[in-house]
Amino acid sequence: MLSRRPAKIKIKKVTMEIHPPQVPRVIGHRGAAGHAPENTIASLKIAAALGAHWVEFDVKLASGGELILFHDNTLDRTTDGKGKVAETPLGQIKALDAGKWYQAGFAGERVPTLDEALVVLARFSLGANVEIKPCPGRERETGETAAQALKARWPGRLPAPLVSSFSVAALAAAANQAPEFPRALLFREPPENWRALAEEIGATAIHCNHQFLDRARVAALREAGYAVRAYTVNDVRAAVQLFSWGVASVFTDYPDRIIGV
Ligand code: G3P
Ligand code: MG
Repeated sequence: MLSRRPAKIKIKKVTMEIHPPQVPRVIGHRGAAGHAPENTIASLKIAAALGAHWVEFDVKLASGGELILFHDNTLDRTTDGKGKVAETPLGQIKALDAGKWYQAGFAGERVPTLDEALVVLARFSLGANVEIKPCPGRERETGETAAQALKARWPGRLPAPLVSSFSVAALAAAANQAPEFPRALLFREPPENWRALAEEIGATAIHCNHQFLDRARVAALREAGYAVRAYTVNDVRAAVQLFSWGVASVFTDYPDRIIGV
């Protein structure tokens, strides 16, 4: 039943100390979504070619529980298929074209599995912020599955992945499976109770839409002990301002524009 709200998840006591990862100031958003179809292997490779050291991508589950890189709940916008991701088997998703909607030159690009993406990260020495983006009703399952996969198969020589989500339930489930991975809570705009939510899942960072950040808000988040990162920042002047306020990193579709700021 996809519409059912998940039960509240109690996170197990985390006893180990989580070290904040060395996250660079510029993180390629969905790979390098300004230059390639988002969340594809091509997008990850182009981010690396443009000089990004880290990328962000979204992960969710195909109907059978396999992890794929995908943003929306439906296939319609970024593939030549239609329908709900949560109701589509991996085999059918793999048969879709995930590139030509963006540009004819990317025709034939496929929706990657998480494991396929991990191979590319290792090959290009890319660190990653893995955003858990559960389809409605699959919050706990997606958080658990993603954390188990990262724990089992994350390339050992890369810095630990930074796990984030807008879903507290998904992040709590991930934390229970892999408490050692640093976590960031995602907001569009931080709500009144942002601090309680961040404490609930043991976050070390808050990721926000840059339009809802100002100097005072960044200062308040940082004074509470959290690193602040901002999405999606494609304008150089905006990046300069955010960094001057103490924002630690920005997610950008155009890493080439912001690197060197
Ligand atoms: O993780 C930062 C950013 O990707 C969050 O928004 O919708 O682009 O996944 P969205
Ligand atoms: Mg994302």
